[in-house]
Amino acid sequence: MSLILGLESSCDETAVALVASDRTILAHRLAGQEGAHRPYGGVVPEIAARAHVEILPSLIEEALAEARVDLNAVDAIAATAGPGLIGGVMVGLVTGKGLALAAGKPLVAVNHLEGHALSPLLVDPDLAFPYLLLLVSGGHCQLLLVEGVGAYRRLATTIDDAAGEAFDKSAKLLALGFPGGPAIERAAAEGNSQAVPLPRPLAGSDEPHFSFAGLKSAVLRAHESGRWSAEDIAASFQQAVVDCLVDRTAHALERCGAVTALVAAGGVAANQAVRAALAALAGQSGLRFVAPPQWLCTDNAAMIAWAGALRYDAGLIDGLDAPARARWPLDPAAEPARGAGVKA
Ligand code: KG4
Ligand code: ZN
Repeated sequence: MSLILGLESSCDETAVALVASDRTILAHRLAGQEGAHRPYGGVVPEIAARAHVEILPSLIEEALAEARVDLNAVDAIAATAGPGLIGGVMVGLVTGKGLALAAGKPLVAVNHLEGHALSPLLVDPDLAFPYLLLLVSGGHCQLLLVEGVGAYRRLATTIDDAAGEAFDKSAKLLALGFPGGPAIERAAAEGNSQAVPLPRPLAGSDEPHFSFAGLKSAVLRAHESGRWSAEDIAASFQQAVVDCLVDRTAHALERCGAVTALVAAGGVAANQAVRAALAALAGQSGLRFVAPPQWLCTDNAAMIAWAGALRYDAGLIDGLDAPARARWPLDPAAEPARGAGVKA
């Protein structure tokens, strides 16, 4: 059994965890930075990077104390090496390298998306490969066939915004606050999801991909028309996102071959309406639906330590020259999705 110290700093959460390969979470610590970014209505990369510099060392001490272990007891140090905001990624990765060097332990440079992709296995010992994964976060919206540790086939991605980005931008338009996902979900609970006619971009399309930019523009027009409350727009927007996610996931399920389960991960998978709709889709397809608990859907270090444990146990360790990467696709062979709104 191996014990891994995991560090996460790729966006606006600073997080540290100690996880063993038998799925024991010995400690997990997380410091959000919402307060620092709220005045700007979004994550400011330099503020995030500076906060990681200040917070990460004390979180590491707290996590080791909580687990009652010292660095000598750890088998490897896992740190997020990308993708993400490069300043923050560098803080966590360099800290991980320093610990690895000082303690004479191997480094595992973890892809943040692999952390999300493998997180359901941390809480569900019965989950087996291959599974169809809907990875929905602030930066990504992808359907992936997860065939094993390090073996990911991307079946679909977004041609413009990620689902979480659509939540965040729509919340900002509606002045519902930051972070946007939970704010929309709270407002939606007070609204009518059928009130506002909104598009379902690419739903029913033969191509596999997602699109959310048109939905965001429609939210802006609905808001400017003054005809509907922010709650009704939020509820109708959330329903439109759910419908798109379900439509595209159903499209993938029909084409991906045999899988053991439908799995959701990433921050948007914390949304109850999203989870309920995907569970229903899985049920219709005779599949199990697996999603980590909410705290493990949004960014955290337990998923990084866990991915680190699976990689370490598979002999996949990295040198101290491992690069920090702003972009790092899980499936390097995937073609860029082409569409009207493709981002550079
Ligand atoms: O995975 P994550 O914590 O960070 C990234 O890797 O991007 O995902 C953050 C995203 C944000 O866009 C946030 O608004 C969204 O997940 N999110 C939600 C909810 N909680 C977080 N979206 C919808 N409903 C939620 N409850
Ligand atoms: Zn994430």
